[in-house]
Amino acid sequence: MNTKTTVISEAQLSLQYAFCDKINAYWLQQNRTPTAYVETYGCQQNEADSEKLRGYLVQSGYAIVTEAEGADAVVMNTCAIREHAEQRVFGNLGALTHTKRRHPEQKIFLCGCMAGETKVSDRIKKSYPHVDGCFSTHHLWQFPEILWNVLSTKKRQFYIADEAGSIAEGIPQVRDNPLKAWVSIMYGCNNFCTYCIVPYVRGRERSRRKEDILAECRCLIESGCKEITLLGQNVNSYGKDLEEGTDFSDLLAEISQIPGEFLIRFMTSHPRDAGKKLFDTMAASPKIAKQLHLPFQSGSSRVLKAMNRHYNREKYLETVNYAKSVMPDLVLTSDVIVGFPGETEEEFEETISLIEQVRYDSLFTFIFSPRTGTPAATMEDPTPKEEKNRRFDRLCAVQNRISEEIHERYIGKCLCCLIDGTDKEFLTARTEGGRLVRCAGDPALIGSYRHITITGATTWSLTGTLSDKEA
Ligand code: SAH
Ligand code: SF4
Ligand code: F3S
Repeated sequence: MNTKTTVISEAQLSLQYAFCDKINAYWLQQNRTPTAYVETYGCQQNEADSEKLRGYLVQSGYAIVTEAEGADAVVMNTCAIREHAEQRVFGNLGALTHTKRRHPEQKIFLCGCMAGETKVSDRIKKSYPHVDGCFSTHHLWQFPEILWNVLSTKKRQFYIADEAGSIAEGIPQVRDNPLKAWVSIMYGCNNFCTYCIVPYVRGRERSRRKEDILAECRCLIESGCKEITLLGQNVNSYGKDLEEGTDFSDLLAEISQIPGEFLIRFMTSHPRDAGKKLFDTMAASPKIAKQLHLPFQSGSSRVLKAMNRHYNREKYLETVNYAKSVMPDLVLTSDVIVGFPGETEEEFEETISLIEQVRYDSLFTFIFSPRTGTPAATMEDPTPKEEKNRRFDRLCAVQNRISEEIHERYIGKCLCCLIDGTDKEFLTARTEGGRLVRCAGDPALIGSYRHITITGATTWSLTGTLSDKEA
């Protein structure tokens, strides 16, 4: 694999804009506005990428629609993290044979993390002839070229070269939500946790220049955005590949200096690199949300070593304890994998005891899924599936009880929340820690910070009433 980051030049990007112009002219000649549907699977990184895919489509004259039926272009932006995620994509891709039969001019594209796996692109080549284009995340910046080639040559396009990855500034974006924005600060991952496919499909870690990130954040805040979530697989190693000497904490501090009323969130932090400087920076700024997603994966030091996580149980607990000591109201969430190859009952119990000790606000829980090409996929795994399911259910029950207990304690509190939308007849809002609150109120309040008195709680969310207190 080539390990050098490619910086996409302005000239290369202008060429892509020129392809957008050609596509525009193509549809103008046919005298109609084409439509496009983008379906997103997986994590926030993919959500952010889909905003760029839509940006390019709109730039090329397409109107974005909400279903594949009848659309002139369908783009499936896929996730490879677990077997189940891939099966869903193949199922939905199969169903597109019908939409294409009803609309033979439909062009279908598969991109995202699955497109970075050779076994997937081979299968698409062989068994999914209705797919017109397949491109990995490294080639997203070339989407207009791929789309134009499909339209003009009628030939299938595969842009799947195995590359270290690139950084492209200036791709147009169509954002989903004017109040809340994703901002990628880095791409790829160097950690090679033994179970994980991400480093193989998204390439090596590479950071965007600080000035580009700051300019994007300034522009968002000036246009009324209230929450910025900084994205990266391991945000704590931001800047290590740059010569600027800025680390993640410095970046956070600089963004928080931008004038305006807004909150900064970020994900994901790797416990190996998250430390005192980060937590002190968070504690010092009212604009940095007191929310931390710090995946622990397992409570057993032996399993953590086999996962290649570079910390042990004690170091993890030390990190969390320090974070809580400087931010008493911290909302803490995490990811955990049950049934890693060779995990014993005792090791699983260590995971349960860590959860009891830390008391997370909520957890994202996964059963280990072997990914071809990763070291863990070939590790001996004697635990039967039923046993893994039993462990998984037990873990979820423990966490649900803790989430409920933590939520109960919100009752009676009056919290400043961002009103961000509606759910049936209710307004939805988020606390600073990111917890969901529902309350009755006027939808005209969407986009403002308001105080809400919490009156009820469930495992997943809170309910409340709007207070007159000034935000
Ligand atoms: N970069 C982030 C995680 C990205 S993937 C981090 O390191 O924390 C999101 C979560 O998916 C991981 O934290 C892990 O819990 C889970 N995951 C990744 N690969 C998996 C696999 N092969 N089987 C089950 N869960 C997995
Ligand atoms: Fe995967 Fe580990 Fe990288 Fe997260 S840090 S993306 S789990 S390899
Ligand atoms: Fe999935 Fe890729 Fe994200 S594998 S979890 S979409 S980085």
